[in-house]
Amino acid sequence: MRIAVTGTTGRVGAALARHFQREHEVVCLPRSVCDLADRTALAECLDALDCEVLLNPAGITSLEACEDDPRLAMRVNAEAPAEIADWAASRGVKVFHFSTDYVFGGDLPGLRCEADEAAPVSAYGRSKLAGERAVLQNPDHCVVRISWVFGPEKPSFIDQQFEAALAGRPLAAVADKISLPVLTTDLCGWMERLILTDTCGVIHACNSGTPTSWHGLTLALLDEMLTCGILTEAPQVQELRLAEMTSFRAARPRFTALDTQRLSRILGELPRPWRAAVADYVRLRNSLHQGENHSCRDGKMI
Ligand SMILES: NC(=O)c1ccc[n+]([C@@H]2O[C@H](COP(=O)([O-])OP(=O)(O)OC[C@H]3O[C@@H](n4cnc5c(N)ncnc54)[C@H](OP(=O)(O)O)[C@@H]3O)[C@@H](O)[C@H]2O)c1
Repeated sequence: MRIAVTGTTGRVGAALARHFQREHEVVCLPRSVCDLADRTALAECLDALDCEVLLNPAGITSLEACEDDPRLAMRVNAEAPAEIADWAASRGVKVFHFSTDYVFGGDLPGLRCEADEAAPVSAYGRSKLAGERAVLQNPDHCVVRISWVFGPEKPSFIDQQFEAALAGRPLAAVADKISLPVLTTDLCGWMERLILTDTCGVIHACNSGTPTSWHGLTLALLDEMLTCGILTEAPQVQELRLAEMTSFRAARPRFTALDTQRLSRILGELPRPWRAAVADYVRLRNSLHQGENHSCRDGKMI
């Protein structure tokens, strides 16, 4: 299959491109080849494109950048996906467009399913919701909502905490904002199934388990670092409140854990628990850190 992937310099795009290159022909469309902010450049890029499936993880993902320039956020996160979706529909190309748990308002604890009402509280969330709606004008396309992505392709929160713990720096994390993380390698495996089953409409894709906070994620990370012998004792992690995060200029929703029943039905099983994904990632991260494979408690080499 010929699969085009946008945003290949990003965390998800890089993971998808690398994953699908194993068995498919992948056309990489980084910003330098396909600038979503430039309508003419995008049209020219699409004109020349030949593929059966287009994966679109590209987007402006900084909440603060979206708040500062909501017009650009709308252009890249909503208008460009609309143009991609229209082009794809005219060519019989299937689109998988990536979106976010931040389309939800986050007022209530619990899991959000695909049919729940979206009520974004930020320019980022509004632009992503507009992108979803535009893509789904064509009901054959698919919107994959993901949350708290981590993986080896690009450092994220979990890597910052890993490095801080290793360096013995003080640790702090928000404890009252709840979601579910997803490891890029797991997401790529699920995408393979979604493509094969020709899934359409909105689907939620994240690891399973009890929803957690950035504080909970940090504790799980430290626990695994202890288990693997990377740390000899667990440092304290200061609990922060979302309301006291003055560096966050954009509003963040508090409760956005995604319900993955639809994904589970397609996979025939629950996505694996996020703690197992974190455990694997700690081993991988440590082996990358040491520049060699690292042996862990169960003796497996990752
Ligand atoms: N990361 C998360 O925790 C998370 C959570 C929920 C949903 N999502 C969604 O998942 C998708 C992928 O996220 P990610 O973590 O891979 O984000 P990322 O690492 O920030 O990557 C974003 C990608 O989009 C590209 N891009 C930005 N502006 C562009 C433009 N004008 N034209 C073309 N490409 C442009 C970036 O290119 P440059 O490198 O050139 O800037 C980069 O390749 C996004 O749609 C995001 O909304 C992510």
